[in-house]
Amino acid sequence: MTVGAPDCEETNSSLLEWHEGNALCTARWHSASGGPAPRRVVVADDTLTADAAYRLACEGTALLWRGDFQNARQLLQAMGRRLDRKPRSGAKPAPDYPEAFHRKRMAQAQRARILGMLLIPFEAGHVIPLRRAPDVCQACEEVYGQINAPYVTSLRELLGLIGAHEWRRKGVVIPALGGHRIHPHHGVFSPVRGEYVALVAEAPLPGALTDHSLAFDIGTGTGVLAVVLARRGVARVVATDQDERALACARENIVRLELEKHVELLQADLFPPGQAPLVVCNPPWVPGKPSSALEYAVYDPDSRMLRGFLSGLAAHLEPDGEGWLILSDLAEHLKLRPRETLLAWIAAAGLKVLGRHDVKPTHAKAADPDDPLHAARAAEVTSLWRLGAV
Ligand SMILES: C[S@@+](CC[C@H](N)C(=O)[O-])C[C@H]1O[C@@H](n2cnc3c(N)ncnc32)[C@H](O)[C@@H]1O
Repeated sequence: MTVGAPDCEETNSSLLEWHEGNALCTARWHSASGGPAPRRVVVADDTLTADAAYRLACEGTALLWRGDFQNARQLLQAMGRRLDRKPRSGAKPAPDYPEAFHRKRMAQAQRARILGMLLIPFEAGHVIPLRRAPDVCQACEEVYGQINAPYVTSLRELLGLIGAHEWRRKGVVIPALGGHRIHPHHGVFSPVRGEYVALVAEAPLPGALTDHSLAFDIGTGTGVLAVVLARRGVARVVATDQDERALACARENIVRLELEKHVELLQADLFPPGQAPLVVCNPPWVPGKPSSALEYAVYDPDSRMLRGFLSGLAAHLEPDGEGWLILSDLAEHLKLRPRETLLAWIAAAGLKVLGRHDVKPTHAKAADPDDPLHAARAAEVTSLWRLGAV
């Protein structure tokens, strides 16, 4: 029995196989996070206990759910609780960075792999053929596009799509934009940490921008920094990103805020052609290999974007222009990239530091003493580095 094959252009899909009754079944596998199709799949329903589900998932067997949808949600939570059980231990040793960082990422990857083993079937049109299943058509279509055939994805991913749909619908309030909202799309870096946006909203505009003519925003994501610059009176902002999802998201935000005349979007690797008196960039802050397609806005492999921005900046600055680099020093506290390395890259790129504006982040994780990265997060400072050509 073949359950179906889609006619959409989703790239992260492959075929999933399992036995049901006496039949060999297949269906398309979809994963926006780029996770591979599980190789071993069994059919499961409400009779499966959380302990058995957890054991199977840990062994690498995926569970294709045929029971009640809400029970599947509860099962996933129960599996999560089993993963979260803390080993009994005495006094916590002082964190050893970067080991604690690598261990935490490995634990996160393992958690994602195990919880990703609970699978949900879909019929054509993103319909879930399970009891008490919600209508998730719009949330799925926003990410997967139209799919006119059955497919399977993990419940964990589906819950992520539902959450992303809500963020996209409601938007994130940006205090530095006078309370206007930015609506992030799934997989696009969300400006939930307002402190870095405030740095760009408050830093004095460079003297070279006297006629407020032009700025570049490199790696625009939701478009939030381009919007801040346009609202500060910059007549034309050219905003780039490599990621089509980011460009579509930025376009929607710019139209919503009626800034189409002031912000131009361009798909580019780093810089647009030409020079500007102000070039802004907020690269991912932590050097590291992304473990899924969704992590590219958070982890910068080998600091590629940061180094690319610094090495190309001088050539894209007008005389007396300024480059604004937004960067937290979390990587320094985690011992992943020392300050001296950053300063050496700045000097090697023919740049000098004109000034720096610092702010202490106030996000919830910084206040969580149970986080193995707590000491690093508590010491973190976010900076706007004002850079000029030597
Ligand atoms: C940390 S996010 C910042 C997004 C936004 N500027 C902000 O401050 O919220 C970095 C962005 O850079 C983009 N990016 C990564 N490498 C890039 C490259 N080589 N050229 C252009 N954009 C890139 C990512 O897609 C992502 O949207």
